[in-house]
Amino acid sequence: MTRHLLSSADLSREQTEAILDTAASMHDVQRRQVKKLPTLRGRTVINFFFEDSTRTRSSFEIAGKWMSADTINLSAKGSSTSKGESLRDTVMTVNAMAVDALVIRHNASGACQQVAQWVDASVINAGDGTHEHPTQALLDAYTLRSRLGSLDGRHVVIVGDLTHSRVFRSNVITLKTLGARVTVVAPPTLMPSGVSAWSAADGFATSWDLDETLYAGDAPDAVMMLRVQRERMSGGFFPTAREYTVGYGMTRPRLERLLSANPEAAILHPGPMNRGLEISADAADSANSLVLDQVSAGVAVRMSVLYHLLAGDGSEAAA
Ligand code: CP
Repeated sequence: MTRHLLSSADLSREQTEAILDTAASMHDVQRRQVKKLPTLRGRTVINFFFEDSTRTRSSFEIAGKWMSADTINLSAKGSSTSKGESLRDTVMTVNAMAVDALVIRHNASGACQQVAQWVDASVINAGDGTHEHPTQALLDAYTLRSRLGSLDGRHVVIVGDLTHSRVFRSNVITLKTLGARVTVVAPPTLMPSGVSAWSAADGFATSWDLDETLYAGDAPDAVMMLRVQRERMSGGFFPTAREYTVGYGMTRPRLERLLSANPEAAILHPGPMNRGLEISADAADSANSLVLDQVSAGVAVRMSVLYHLLAGDGSEAAA
């Protein structure tokens, strides 16, 4: 296992599967009344979130605590970053306290790679700008594997604001590592330039037409809706919210048509959701929705990642 987890591309298929297998053992801990393992006793994990988060920050904190690590949360507001301290000085300061892992979320793409060059601690990318969110992709893969079994040959459709999505980038890498076929769908204004060059022959396709992708033959096993990230948009990427929903939202009629083609089709969303924009309440709360399974998997997968980076190869945890 690598010392850091900066990109989904850091993990081979074997390493990805090892993390998911260990996460399955960790998930059992989640179902116990006493949720505590001694595995990371004496280790210190700092969760440094320069951007807001509900799911990722709390699940990393819970994961560390359930494995007996000392976990400390820092955010830009409340740390000396708000007084103008540079990223380098901030992380070097924390590193000098002999911490074992730094879990970092930052609004700059590449920030985690940069930090990893400065510190001795293991660095885990908890989302950097529009670049990557590797633990999200791992928990999504875990959720899909729990539902579908092997992902080899499975068809996963990822829909929405691809331009601003780090979740989409990590998911394409991890899903393809695990043998899935991936189609990404977005309006032309939210399709990142160069994405269509990611090799159609390699189980990857792009489309501007959601209905054609969902209904024209290759019925998806899972559809992942992405959040429209208005806070990262500087201009008008679509005419109106209503037009976006009509073209690219998982509306009730679209869900019904999808499920009539494949009643088992899974609906995912990494959260936070814009209900009524990219996903209807009917879809988010349907029996096919795995949204809360994703949240639950987040703790187990992050326990597993901390374990593999800080404690060993996973065999002890699996035992
Ligand atoms: N999916 C995700 O990263 O959610 P948070 O921003 O709440 O962590």
